Amino acid sequence: MNWNEAGTLLQSHEQRFGGQGRVFTAPARVNLIGEHTDYTGGLVMPMAIDFATTAIISPRSDGRAVIYSTNFDEEISSDIGTPALAPRGHWSDYPLGVVWSLAQEGVTVGGFNMSLAGNVPVGAGLSSSASIEVATAMALLGLMGKELPLKTIATLCRRTENEFVGAKSGIMDQFVVTGAVAGRVMMLDCRSLEFELLPLPEAVRIVVCNSMVKHAVATGAYGDRSDEVNAGQAVLRAERPGIELLRDATLADLEACRDKMSAASFARCRHIISENGRVLEARDALLRADVKRFGELMIEAHVSMRDDFAASCPEVDTLVDIAVRQPGCFGARITGGGFGGCTVNLVEAEKAEDFVEALRREYKSALGISADCFVSAPSDGALALASKGGVQ
Ligand code: GLA
Repeated sequence: MNWNEAGTLLQSHEQRFGGQGRVFTAPARVNLIGEHTDYTGGLVMPMAIDFATTAIISPRSDGRAVIYSTNFDEEISSDIGTPALAPRGHWSDYPLGVVWSLAQEGVTVGGFNMSLAGNVPVGAGLSSSASIEVATAMALLGLMGKELPLKTIATLCRRTENEFVGAKSGIMDQFVVTGAVAGRVMMLDCRSLEFELLPLPEAVRIVVCNSMVKHAVATGAYGDRSDEVNAGQAVLRAERPGIELLRDATLADLEACRDKMSAASFARCRHIISENGRVLEARDALLRADVKRFGELMIEAHVSMRDDFAASCPEVDTLVDIAVRQPGCFGARITGGGFGGCTVNLVEAEKAEDFVEALRREYKSALGISADCFVSAPSDGALALASKGGVQ
């Protein structure tokens, strides 16, 4: 969202509700490497991208929340006393879930009018939900004149997702969407919530390509995978002293427990343990600007997501196969929760435009699907944007 679009949204908010609105924005994200590691305290390396949700907020005096979604062209009105708030499988679960989660944090929100608008593709694995949650949290905190630290904002938005919406996701999305900094990728330790902001070498571009196969975190396969992972983790915890989370386990630990868990749990845990190792290696590669090694690690990560984690799909595999054959492509892999959604590609800067064109053309001729592809630079997260006045 640029200043013009934010201005138009602000104007229509003020026409709809009266009063003066304030603008808050939170981006989407793409994960370069470190998939399905976050909910077992592992390592991830995401960055924010130039898609976003914008929340415009103004106070109202009757203690209600009135929220208008421009995407759904629908307005909802809710009593925001905590006991009254319950999910109902509707888009408004995300913003109202944030009101609920803030209350758990001891922040009671007064009545408000909010307009929400976003251009994050839904079901593409780019964290449209975290983007809505964090934009809402920033707006509500702004309304209450409160500031909270990055960790608290990310944690309370994750709580919305886990306990209100009912998706078993980790902390990665909410954390990077809140705390990202333009020009940097973030390596996050999902146990300690310590992070490093790493530069992306200038010689490369990140290309995100949407397979157009929709994925959903709140239902089905994501939850099955996290159950399989948790079952394997519970065995390791019981059998090997010193293992609290999968993050603490080595492949040798896992091998020693192979007979005590299902074949599925074994394979899912092997993906996660090996993926944590790849993130550390990817960090080192980035620090020495070794894009070739970084790309190889992405390809290994894709194979592991496909074979051990069983979270890819034929369309995404086709996109990756086409990508790695292209000149200037160092690596390609599925990104996000899986079972569809997007690939992320590391491509030589000068070849990025040709890469996008070839990928779209060859994917269309292989499967008859027109993929959305875009070159993405690391963008600011919600906190950095707020310090600059709310828009990119
Ligand atoms: C989704 C979840 C994240 C993370 C990824 C997979 O995006 O919201 O917490 O688990 O999937 O890495």
